[in-house]
Order: sequence, then C-alpha cells, then structure tokens
Amino acid sequence: MNKLLVSMLLALGICSSVQAAETVVGDATAGQAKTAVCGACHGPDGNSMAPNFPKIAGQGERYLLKQLHEIKDGKRVVLEMTGLLNNLTEQDLADIAAFYAGQKGSVGAADPNLVARGEALFRGGKLDQGLAACTGCHSPNGSGNAQAGFPHLGGQHADYIKKQLTAFREGERTNDGDTMVMRSIAAKLSNKDIEALAQYIQGLH
Ligand code: HEC
Ligand code: HEC
Repeated sequence: MNKLLVSMLLALGICSSVQAAETVVGDATAGQAKTAVCGACHGPDGNSMAPNFPKIAGQGERYLLKQLHEIKDGKRVVLEMTGLLNNLTEQDLADIAAFYAGQKGSVGAADPNLVARGEALFRGGKLDQGLAACTGCHSPNGSGNAQAGFPHLGGQHADYIKKQLTAFREGERTNDGDTMVMRSIAAKLSNKDIEALAQYIQGLH
C-alpha cells in the first residue's frame, strides 16, 4: 500500500472514532436510574461521606467519562469497582457522567494549621523548582475546566486528594496522558506539601 493511502485510512479511522464518541450524548435523568449501585460508596447524589471514596457530584462530564472508560478498561485500577462497569454501554457511561456532572458538590473544612502552606502552593506553585501553580488548570476556586477535562477539585475529601497525589508521584496512577502532566507535577511535591494541598483543597470553593 502506498503511504498516501495509509495516511488517508488512518485519518478516516480517527475521524470516525471521534464522530462515534461525539454522537453519544448523556441523558442525566436516564443516568440517575443507572447509579443505584454507585450510591453505596459515592453517595446517592455523588457526595460521598467516606473520605476514601471520592465525591463525584459536580465533576466535569468530560473528566468523568474519561475516568469511567479507564476504570472499565483497567487503565486506572480501582479495586473497589472491579467488574461494576463491565456491563455498561457507551450510552450508560455517558448518561451516568451527565447525571453526576449536574449535581452540586459539597465542601468540607480545611485544617487551619495547613491552610497557608496549601494555599501558597495551590496559587503560586514553587518558582525555584519550576512547579506550576495548580490554579492554571484547576482554576483559582478549584472548579477545574470542564471543557478541557481538567477535574474539579474544590471540596474533595483530603484523604482522597492525598492518595491521588501520592499515587501520581509514585507512578501508581498513570492515566494522566502522554504528557504525564500530573506525574511530573507530583514529583516535585513532598509529603508535607501533599498534606497541606489536600487540606486546602478540602475547604476550597
Ligand atoms: C465499593 C465502593 C465503590 C462503588 C460501589 C463504586 N465506586 Fe467509584 N470509586 C470508588 C473508589 C474507592 C474510587 C477511588 C479509587 C482511588 O483511590 O483511586 C472510585 C473512583 C471513581 C471515579 C473517579 C473519581 C475521580 O475523581 O477521579 C468515578 C468517576 C467513579 N468512581 C464512578 C463510579 C460509578 C459511576 C459507580 C457505579 C457504577 C461507582 N463508581 C461505584 C469506590 C466505589
Ligand atoms: C497543566 C495543567 C495542570 C496543572 C498545572 C495541575 N493539574 Fe492536576 N490535573 C490535571 C489533569 C489534566 C488531570 C486529570 C488527569 C486524568 O485525566 O486522569 C489532573 C488531575 C488531578 C488530580 C486528580 C483528581 C481526581 O479527582 O482524581 C489531583 C488531585 C490534582 N490534579 C491536583 C493538582 C494539584 C494539587 C496541582 C498543583 C500542585 C495540580 N493538580 C496542577 C492538570 C493539571
């Protein structure tokens, strides 16, 4: 086959898969009916009570759908969710993502002793180490950027945030793409930085 043909076929393949992904539009009402099993851990409206189960209420739809695909495929390992997504279709996942994206996320309280350090890191990064401020992608109030797929963080359980930042740093969570954006950021965070950021984020709104 000549090179031109190969690249045309590739282009067609890419276009059709993008199109397929875009034709599935989530229906929040249908989604709610599909979340009975999720509520046990994440709370009926996505505001989980347990600090190790992430809040998913008000999370961006694009980010939610990406995580659901990757948890389903095993690209992100969540043992607690083993097998739970296996029988869900593309439409089911889109409906579920639409439902949680439409819920209102709750906010917690930060440890007052760690707020100042957490805030300085979140808003200023670390100039001497070339660490970017978190606000650039996750926004100053922690609401993220839904269109870009940058997750909403504000109000999230500190324990969960701490676990994710540590997992990115240790290379245990690797689904942040080819740019390794969060792995390279977390590599510059000490345990104390992570603790402070997690507390600050828990109270952020
Ligand atoms: C037995 C408890 C449990 C059940 C049931 C469960 N989950 Fe989870 N889920 C978790 C845990 C724990 C994590 C986070 C794991 C980690 O620390 O990385 C998670 C992570 C997630 C995330 C990623 C959140 C983020 O901020 O990145 C999404 C989205 C999610 N779950 C959706 C669902 C949906 C939808 C269902 C129902 C079909 C469901 N979960 C059922 C425990 C559960
Ligand atoms: C250049 C953009 C960028 C910057 C800067 C950035 N992040 Fe992220 N962050 C991302 C993206 C993109 C993801 C989602 C990765 C994925 O798809 O799984 C993410 C994911 C996360 C998550 C996981 C959220 C969840 O629900 O599981 C946490 C926690 C996080 N970032 C914290 C931080 C903190 C703290 C900082 C600052 C020290 C920071 N990020 C700076 C882009 C960024």
